[in-house]
Amino acid sequence: MNFLITYLFLSIGVLMAQDEFNTNVSINSAVVIRSRSMSVDFWTPERMKAAKEPVVILPPNGKNTSRSFSISNNGPQATILGRTPAATSPLGRALNVRGRYVATTGRVFWSCSVNIMSYCSASVVASTSGDVIVTAGHCVYDTSTLQWLTNCNWIFVPAYYNGTAPYGKWPAREVAALTSWTQSSPNYNNDVGFVALSLLNGRHITELTGSQSVGFNYPRNQPTYSFGYPLNLDQGEILQVCTGIPGVSKYTTNGYAGQGLSNCYMTGGCSGGPWLQQFDESTGIGVTYSVNSFTYSLAPNTINGPVFDSNIQSLWNYITAR
Ligand SMILES: *[C@@H]1O[C@H](CO)[C@@H](O)[C@H](O)[C@H]1NC(C)=O
Ligand SMILES: *[C@@H]1O[C@H](CO)[C@@H](O)[C@H](O)[C@H]1NC(C)=O
Ligand SMILES: *[C@@H]1O[C@H](CO)[C@@H](O)[C@H](O)[C@H]1NC(C)=O
Repeated sequence: MNFLITYLFLSIGVLMAQDEFNTNVSINSAVVIRSRSMSVDFWTPERMKAAKEPVVILPPNGKNTSRSFSISNNGPQATILGRTPAATSPLGRALNVRGRYVATTGRVFWSCSVNIMSYCSASVVASTSGDVIVTAGHCVYDTSTLQWLTNCNWIFVPAYYNGTAPYGKWPAREVAALTSWTQSSPNYNNDVGFVALSLLNGRHITELTGSQSVGFNYPRNQPTYSFGYPLNLDQGEILQVCTGIPGVSKYTTNGYAGQGLSNCYMTGGCSGGPWLQQFDESTGIGVTYSVNSFTYSLAPNTINGPVFDSNIQSLWNYITAR
């Protein structure tokens, strides 16, 4: 039988059983070449609502090509603390009522071909620049065409709600993923991408929304809140959440070492949405330690996510001050 891996967004499912994974990890980054005004003007409310989650390609049968990929959560646990929004942020009051996660989570959009509009979820995390968001690797880099999606009218819309962008549409200026992701047989343990956003009206996004803490080599099997905009719930127009204690992923092919969060009914579109530990429901603040990555046909209603390890920490170290 075929084992189906479904990216939690659209367009691509991927051939999982391929060559040996490249475990020689380094950073691949790119300065975004699309002008910011083009990106922002492109995304009208109608286009944002039309962006969909979609085509899935079946991988070949579950051939085991695993060749001892070692889990590299090999460093000390590290936490970079998130920030409160600036005192001048017009959001201050709303955030006090609803919690910071409402503003730090949003949707990303891109369109690489005429009339094909796609989206994922993403969130603002701690950074030196105040400009950094995290999402899934497959929301920034297309491993079938070997292209950065961030060149395709790619924007982030924090607190996206039903076609509206209450805190603006933020174009990308630089993107980074690991080379173990930016190749035709990507390593799903590294399905993570960081993006540095442009300023909007002279402001860094973190001034407006605040940011969530980001954690590396965090413990597994901890109470987790997973946020995202899955197309199957409210047409992806409203932020959703799954909560629970994730366990070992049922997907073990090719050395996959991520976790699975079961009893979660979010599907495509929630990709890239953050997993937070130590989440405080009253403040809406937690530590981002993974992102929604894929579902697996043999473990229904379970979302898999890679635990941020030392390699992902290196990636964050690269992007934080860019
Ligand atoms: C890892 O990749 C870099 C850059 O491609 C190369 O210079 C280096 O020799 C590689 N290391 C190993 C152990 O393969
Ligand atoms: C796949 O192969 C690896 C290495 O040979 C082995 O350790 C692992 O148990 C195999 N996995 C399955 C599901 O057969
Ligand atoms: C979303 O917007 C549409 C109009 O575009 C409106 O009819 C609908 O009620 C809105 N839904 C929510 C949940 O706000």
